[in-house]
Amino acid sequence: MPRPISASVFISLLAGFSRVAATSGWHFVQNGTTGLLALEATIVSPTLALLYDLSATRTPLLMGNESAWGALYDLTTNVVTPIQVNSDTFCASGATLSNGSTVSVGGNWIPTLSQGVNGYQGLRIFEPCTSPSGVGCTLYDDPSTLHLTAARWYPSAIRIYDGSLFIAGGSLNFSLFYNEFPENSYEFFPPRDGGVVRPSPFLVRAGKTNMFPRIFSLTDGTIFMVAGNQSIIYNVDTKKETRLPDIPNGVKVSNPFDGSAQLLPLSPPNYIPEVLVCGGSDTDERIAPPELSSQTPASDQCSRIELSPAGIKRGWIVERMPERRILPEMLILPTGQIIIVNGAQTGYSAFSSFLSWIKDPVGNSNADHPNFTPTLYDPLAPVGKRMIKKGLPTTNIARMYHSTATVTPSGQVSCFGHDTAISNCANRNILIAGSNPQVEVNTTVPYPTEFRVEYLNPPYMYLERPVLSRVPAKVAFDAHFTLQVTLPKKAGIFPTIKVALMDLGFSSHAFHSSNRLVYLEATLDRDHKTLHITSPPNNRVYPPGPGYLYVVVADEYVSVGAQIMIGSGASPPVPDQGRRL
Ligand SMILES: *[C@@H]1O[C@H](CO)[C@@H](O)[C@H](O)[C@H]1NC(C)=O
Ligand SMILES: *[C@@H]1O[C@H](CO)[C@@H](O)[C@H](O)[C@H]1NC(C)=O
Ligand SMILES: *[C@@H]1O[C@H](CO)[C@@H](O)[C@H](O)[C@H]1NC(C)=O
Ligand SMILES: *[C@@H]1O[C@H](CO)[C@@H](O)[C@H](O)[C@H]1NC(C)=O
Ligand SMILES: *[C@@H]1O[C@H](CO)[C@@H](O)[C@H](O)[C@H]1NC(C)=O
Ligand SMILES: *[C@@H]1O[C@H](CO)[C@@H](O)[C@H](O)[C@H]1NC(C)=O
Repeated sequence: MPRPISASVFISLLAGFSRVAATSGWHFVQNGTTGLLALEATIVSPTLALLYDLSATRTPLLMGNESAWGALYDLTTNVVTPIQVNSDTFCASGATLSNGSTVSVGGNWIPTLSQGVNGYQGLRIFEPCTSPSGVGCTLYDDPSTLHLTAARWYPSAIRIYDGSLFIAGGSLNFSLFYNEFPENSYEFFPPRDGGVVRPSPFLVRAGKTNMFPRIFSLTDGTIFMVAGNQSIIYNVDTKKETRLPDIPNGVKVSNPFDGSAQLLPLSPPNYIPEVLVCGGSDTDERIAPPELSSQTPASDQCSRIELSPAGIKRGWIVERMPERRILPEMLILPTGQIIIVNGAQTGYSAFSSFLSWIKDPVGNSNADHPNFTPTLYDPLAPVGKRMIKKGLPTTNIARMYHSTATVTPSGQVSCFGHDTAISNCANRNILIAGSNPQVEVNTTVPYPTEFRVEYLNPPYMYLERPVLSRVPAKVAFDAHFTLQVTLPKKAGIFPTIKVALMDLGFSSHAFHSSNRLVYLEATLDRDHKTLHITSPPNNRVYPPGPGYLYVVVADEYVSVGAQIMIGSGASPPVPDQGRRL
């Protein structure tokens, strides 16, 4: 029976309501600085982001008597702790193995400016570390004992079905703008084929704009790749490349014409993969860099393909973003939507300096007209209604070349209690950092070296969050497990509940490699507290390794992400596990 509400309770409810109302919707919050350039960013624990810079930037953050080019950023305190890196992480990539170690892959150096040693064959291993602040966490980086087979500047790396890394492409030496010294091959870590690289006809076909190929592990263990305007499915066991249709309308989507790409959320029972590719440029790559302009409009095209026999037959479906974008980042949210952030409306990747040049850089930037407002993409909405701009906030910080973004596990600190004081929480859900269209620190140009951190907070950060407990640390494939959830008070009696297993991925150069969302079968017990969940059916649907579990209630309320190991946690390669689809 409803209780009568006293006048004072009513007033405080109103006050509470206006506070929450004032902080509903989407928000950018600027808080904290990175001390180095966040060129690459990846979440390595519930509280830490691992950041890499190029060693030539020579930023203010010191490691001993040198500028640091690796650091751990504590998301709860905004405190940055440098880590010792020995080789130059200049335009590297990375991914996390089945045993939870995060590997940084490739690099380069600039002889007179760089610190450390040449990182062109870099394989740097960050072991799982339980220190919440990052103090005492270390990196193994010894190129004389552990390195790639090929030199790779601008490669991509993803975790595949056996928990190891598939590494694709890059430049074997300084390429000034286009890929002049292409390393058109694949390799693995730990190595396959006795460490010999595999040639890639696909990367050859993709041409001079094939750097940072956008690659994804599909649910049958094959790999989808897109570079330039070419796309294929690659079977790593048979080495067979299956050609897919070109990206339509001459649009190219990898570096230096960076668009971005994302594997859309995977759902039971069939987990049919779909890929969305957005932005980039339709410029003819035969045009020499000195003829290119920072004012040339980027592409507003998104192309989507369902990777089933019928979907491949239908080919790419074209949609348009509200803004053109070169250098966007695309991140999957636990709600299943994709947030498109960062980038610029005109121009190209890279910067103009002694390394490369275009005819009219802005300061040193090859890109101009930054995208200050993110776009939300709803994959389940009908074509034409998927791009959401309404209600998205606008920043005044340009995030163009060498910027990063990642969803974080928690995103909420300094909450004084739970639902009563949501407005007292410092919300930090999507970490956005970096941008430096020059080699070194330059604060006097139009698009200066950017050290400020910004958080983009979705509406769920301003609502009561479902609270999870008794989450297992590790689950096998195709296994039943339970956790406890406290539902938000306003979510109703029988709300819809989704459990999202996410790999938060690795951000470098407008590509968030290994980012993945797999929805798990889940039912709420009659006790309204116990969630009965089935883990991913097998190691191809979710490559074995760490992830974060988010519970999404009534499509609106999102829990903190709980860290979980999927599979045995053994070092790669691990055998096939679970049930075949
Ligand atoms: C930094 O310190 C190391 C070891 O103490 C020394 O070998 C090196 O020369 C120093 N570098 C600079 C730039 O002072
Ligand atoms: C890269 O280019 C530099 C300068 O031209 C040259 O000295 C070096 O040997 C090249 N490295 C490779 C791996 O080709
Ligand atoms: C893809 O790029 C190639 C070479 O740049 C071009 O010849 C071809 O027409 C493009 N395909 C489409 C569909 O635009
Ligand atoms: C900024 O971070 C500090 C330290 O964690 C925190 O106390 C403060 O509330 C934050 N401010 C905002 C606006 O989020
Ligand atoms: C910053 O960039 C401008 C434009 O290229 C250049 O003139 C200036 O020397 C640079 N400053 C530093 C400190 O590198
Ligand atoms: C994970 O596997 C890699 C490759 O074998 C190894 O270098 C690393 O030390 C392993 N990490 C853990 C935590 O076992």
